[in-house]
Amino acid sequence: MKVSVIGCGTMGNGIAHVFAQNGHEVNLIDLSRENLDRAMATVEKNLGRLVKKEKISEDDAKAALGRLNPTTELKAAADSELVIEAVFESFEVKKEIFTQLDEICDPETILASNTSSISLTKIAGVTNRADQVIGMHFMNPVPMMKLVEVICGQATSESTLERITQVAKDLGKVPVTVQDYPGFISNRVLMPMINEAVYCLMEGVAEEEAIDTVMKLGMAHPMGPLQLADFIGLDICLDIMEVLYDGFGDSKYRPCPLLRRMVDAGYLGRKSGRGFYDYS
Ligand SMILES: NC(=O)c1ccc[n+]([C@@H]2O[C@H](COP(=O)([O-])OP(=O)(O)OC[C@H]3O[C@@H](n4cnc5c(N)ncnc54)[C@H](O)[C@@H]3O)[C@@H](O)[C@H]2O)c1
Repeated sequence: MKVSVIGCGTMGNGIAHVFAQNGHEVNLIDLSRENLDRAMATVEKNLGRLVKKEKISEDDAKAALGRLNPTTELKAAADSELVIEAVFESFEVKKEIFTQLDEICDPETILASNTSSISLTKIAGVTNRADQVIGMHFMNPVPMMKLVEVICGQATSESTLERITQVAKDLGKVPVTVQDYPGFISNRVLMPMINEAVYCLMEGVAEEEAIDTVMKLGMAHPMGPLQLADFIGLDICLDIMEVLYDGFGDSKYRPCPLLRRMVDAGYLGRKSGRGFYDYS
């Protein structure tokens, strides 16, 4: 199958990797040549790791890399059967891309988004093919994580859902079908838990390590909620809480003031060197 992935950042290069490793020809499209070079190097490194672990052969890795076509031309996506968008989490940026994709792609092309929080119905609404627009929410790191949340917008057709479910299964992933409500399942359940952990910290119920230890040893979570928040990025956690709060209009989703204060201070987690823990 011919596939195009738009955006070659954290998620885009992982998605492209998984499709290429499974025999698909993939256009990896980004505005930035520099990011494309970095993404190709990342995919090469990650394929190399799989060779070392003897999960794939050196020839398989080479062939997978050869199936990737890095390009800055959006129109390379025109004859793809499936396009997966993984650019910044901004409706304005996604709107622009879906409008253009709708114009340039074959009428049959399915347009998917890897958005973690933007309404698929809203994205589909900027195209003339809302029945062929769907969410494919991969998890980070994509080559390792089995889950794909498959999100149906209001107008997504049954045949689009069936096709994408099969595509995800063929990649060795486990697709879960979710309707288009704020936060889908993953973030609607995860983020309020993180937010509540931040409330516990703010109210002095316990210190960071204690909160994380309770959830790790008591609930068998591989990472505590504060450690996970640092890994995801506190700005992203705050944005998603805002999406839940606005989307449901329910005070139970109000972002914790301490979370907001950390973001205002520039303490964004691992990526800024400091969050609930110090990484410097
Ligand atoms: N990072 C995660 O853990 C994660 C997990 C699940 C879903 N998501 C979602 O995946 C999407 C991508 O996130 P990311 O973390 O990979 O972002 P990122 O910032 O790592 O990468 C985004 C890439 O998109 C490119 N880009 C921006 N505008 C573009 C355009 N108009 N055309 C082509 N390329 C463009 C940028 O140059 C950049 O390389 C977001 O919607 C995010 O919510 C992220």
